[in-house]
Amino acid sequence: MQIAIDGPASAGKSTIAKIIAAKLNYVYTDTGAMYRAATWLARQNKIDYSDADGIAKLIKQFPISFRVESDKQHVLVAGHDISEDIRQPQISKNVSQVAALASVRDLLVQQQRQIAQENDVVMDGRDIGTTVLPDAQVKIFLVASVQERAHRRYLENKTRGIETSLSTIEDEIAARDYKDSHRQISPLKKASDAIEVDTTKLEINQVVEEILKIIHNKTNN
Ligand code: CDP
Ligand code: CDP
Repeated sequence: MQIAIDGPASAGKSTIAKIIAAKLNYVYTDTGAMYRAATWLARQNKIDYSDADGIAKLIKQFPISFRVESDKQHVLVAGHDISEDIRQPQISKNVSQVAALASVRDLLVQQQRQIAQENDVVMDGRDIGTTVLPDAQVKIFLVASVQERAHRRYLENKTRGIETSLSTIEDEIAARDYKDSHRQISPLKKASDAIEVDTTKLEINQVVEEILKIIHNKTNN
């Protein structure tokens, strides 16, 4: 079983995908964390964010993996826990540039498909319904107004101890959405068979309910 959840930054994809995966006992895969990890590897090794071959080499040398521990998903690179590091503003600012590189996408998409081949998955990202899992049984496109998304990220950053103004966050996510939607390879786009859910005015539990209904209607699960 494959459930694809795509959408722009901070629409609630990972929060919702994690809850749905836990309810259905599926594996949750945060593909954005993989592109963030690739960006972290470049930064750590002082490789230019446009150096496709250099970053691809790093991904092969230091494989990216996930570990679930007391309900929280940890992102590891060569056994080193980088879950918090990859959420820092310096990574958010540069991740779209790294994610636009063909050789980086090739490697990470291959790994994502492998995970989906071996498990029932809820996978979230930008190109899951269009490219990674085009045959997914359920495809959701999660959206919300940019103001609401910036506000959510602002609150989330606060709990992480990251102090960034609301307007800076709004500019950052709008710029990232633009880059993600306009890149050449696998741009952020609603799949023709995806169901759009606007979460602007919905609480998390309401979004979960709506998506569970969609899954039930499509699969009888
Ligand atoms: O959590 P947030 O919405 O801020 O972003 P994310 O899901 O962690 O994704 C970070 C970045 O990775 C996105 O802005 C895209 O540039 C890239 N990404 C991608 O290109 N394809 C995916 N399937 C997932 C993320
Ligand atoms: O993965 P993505 O970037 O799409 O968003 P997220 O990191 O799951 O969600 C961003 C923040 O919005 C989190 O702190 C959520 O708790 C919050 N939120 C939400 O996900 N859904 C709502 N309906 C309301 C708030």
